[in-house]
Amino acid sequence: MKTVIKQSGIKLELEAAAEYYFDEYFLIYIKEEKLLTFGERYVLFELPVMSKPQQVEDAVFEMTLKGYKPVLAHPERYPYFQESGLESLEKLKSMGVLFQLNALSLVGFYSPKVQKFAHQLVKNNWIEWVGSDMHNQRYFEAFKKAIQNDYYQMLCESGNLLNNTLTE
Ligand SMILES: [Fe+2]
Repeated sequence: MKTVIKQSGIKLELEAAAEYYFDEYFLIYIKEEKLLTFGERYVLFELPVMSKPQQVEDAVFEMTLKGYKPVLAHPERYPYFQESGLESLEKLKSMGVLFQLNALSLVGFYSPKVQKFAHQLVKNNWIEWVGSDMHNQRYFEAFKKAIQNDYYQMLCESGNLLNNTLTE
């Protein structure tokens, strides 16, 4: 794909890493320091939807010890965080976990609950990364809408975003 992009004259630098699902393999990869990272040793990981695993904090601690910078994928989408509110994310935040928001969450693409929590996270200035979650054309149409949204603008102007050139 890198070759095709270059040949087409599209000005885009493509890199690939991973969004790790929090399972036993992820814990092994941390131990063995085999994680795929982006930028300066950032590691994107996501949690199960139904319940928060007990070992999240331990895993975060271990990643930090090994010089990784953990990034939690779409914190706004987990029902257990939505239900207990922002303070349920405080511990991870205080441990240095960075949060990656899906832009589509801002316009209710997933659900009204996700949207509401996404707005709270943006207002609280807790988002460091924004992603497109670009799976197909349907997502693309919603993404175009999302980047017109006031909350998206707020996020871009927060000074907090580490990938603020996503939609430049
Ligand atoms: Fe995900």
